[in-house]
Amino acid sequence: MLFDFAEVAPRNRYKLLVSTITPRPIAWVTSQDARGILNAAPFSFFNAFAGDPPIIGIGISNRSSGHKKDTRANIAETGQFVVNLVSEESAHAMNVTAIDFEPHINELAEAGLTALPSVHVQPPRIAESPVSMECALHQIIDLGPASSLVLGRILAMHIRDDAVLDAANAYIDTPKLHLIGRMHGVSWYARTTDLFELPRLAAPERK
Ligand SMILES: Cc1cc2nc3c(=O)[nH]c(=O)nc-3n(C[C@H](O)[C@H](O)[C@H](O)COP(=O)(O)O)c2cc1C
Repeated sequence: MLFDFAEVAPRNRYKLLVSTITPRPIAWVTSQDARGILNAAPFSFFNAFAGDPPIIGIGISNRSSGHKKDTRANIAETGQFVVNLVSEESAHAMNVTAIDFEPHINELAEAGLTALPSVHVQPPRIAESPVSMECALHQIIDLGPASSLVLGRILAMHIRDDAVLDAANAYIDTPKLHLIGRMHGVSWYARTTDLFELPRLAAPERK
């Protein structure tokens, strides 16, 4: 069936995107405002876009009231944030931090999570995350009146010790991270356990 986006209402365009572009990794972002008030929230319009420079991007929409989400406002204000990845063990806590709390509420405390100091940026990382990326703001691109793309440059990455196989060669035991992805609808998620291997082919082997 053809869905011509010129004729599809914005709400349904969103539903078509999130029902098909799956699974999406989740950026669990910690940020602070200029006064140091801590914030945490998950975003699944998220991915890596370059290795050199190491750039990640996060799509942040406005609230239905038209106000900017705290994460977007904090990053614009301070230029710093941490992207923590979400393991299955932290799925519930991640979901708690997605609640629209008042800006002065510390979402990490509400979710029973532990903040650990970062090395290069002010916002702390989440101890319960197996991977945390300290980021500096690269650019905010306004995508329209209600959405922005936040591009961040990774300054440092923390990876849980037991998942590092060989630090010198950057070999990571990815399955051990138990990362989850966001699926369709508002409440479906995927584990990263159903894997298969597809070796890369040299051109003459292609059949
Ligand atoms: C798994 C998950 C993924 C989400 N992804 C996005 C997203 O990509 N963009 C967005 O604007 N909101 C997303 N949200 C909603 C925000 O997390 C939510 O609006 C949150 O309250 C924003 O918090 P803040 O105002 O503290 O930044 C997502 C929520 C969940 C649970």
